[in-house]
Amino acid sequence: MSFENEVESRLKAIDSNNNLKGAAHDFMAASLLPKYSYNYLWMGRPIIQYPQDMVAMQELIWEIKPDLIIETGIAHGGSLIMNASFLALLDYCEAIEAAEQLDPKKPKRRVLGVDIDIREHNRRAIEAHPMTNRIDMIEGSSIAPEIIAKVKEYAKNYRRILVSLDSNHTHEHVLAELEAYAPLTSVGSYCVVFDTIVEEMPKELSGDRSWGPGDNPKTAVWEYLKTHPEFEIDKSIQNKLLITVAPDGYLKRVG
Ligand SMILES: C[S@@+](CC[C@H](N)C(=O)[O-])C[C@H]1O[C@@H](n2cnc3c(N)ncnc32)[C@H](O)[C@@H]1O
Repeated sequence: MSFENEVESRLKAIDSNNNLKGAAHDFMAASLLPKYSYNYLWMGRPIIQYPQDMVAMQELIWEIKPDLIIETGIAHGGSLIMNASFLALLDYCEAIEAAEQLDPKKPKRRVLGVDIDIREHNRRAIEAHPMTNRIDMIEGSSIAPEIIAKVKEYAKNYRRILVSLDSNHTHEHVLAELEAYAPLTSVGSYCVVFDTIVEEMPKELSGDRSWGPGDNPKTAVWEYLKTHPEFEIDKSIQNKLLITVAPDGYLKRVG
């Protein structure tokens, strides 16, 4: 059997492996309160993600080869830097074939981040990072009409777009983000909605946040999908990761 076929059959077998699925669920439940996802760095910047989701983003970006990634939720800038570094690798690989087309001062593949509060020390650190020449940031609420308009204007210059939603995790906010930004996702690319896991975890694990079971990114995804058949949940990603904050959150644009 080829290596690829072996991987495929291992992934299929997960579906009936209740032992493994239960262990993954228990790990997610036990790791949220101790803020496990706050302990990682990407190229020196704090990133608030589970490592499995970071790998999933790498696999998607390699497959899709987007020229623009739009992200809501910047925090310390870790995911901006991570996604920019993945784009840098795409450009690097292409540069081997077409070095003369690359302008190192303004690389063509870029990450656009939106955050309601870009702390000064975070902005300074992001702007001092080697990846900064492929990152742009907009400060403001991701659902404010003027911010949405700016992102749409920016996106006009790009052909293959991936969207990552990781800001305020209430149902209402994420649904508004989906309405605003999911349509920018290119066909065949993904809109990734983080923290859908909140739906599956006890309310107390959300602490004093305004989201919780019944009101979170996953409920927003479900509502959005009712009227947007152009998106499908790519269950194969969560089935493989098992440890993920984005179950039902990897949305593939199919139409
Ligand atoms: C979970 S953090 C983002 C983590 C980041 N994506 C990473 O992986 O490192 C959530 C961020 O969303 C931002 N945020 C909260 N409400 C927002 C809003 N209405 N619009 C845009 N950003 C918002 C917060 O300021 C915070 O920086």
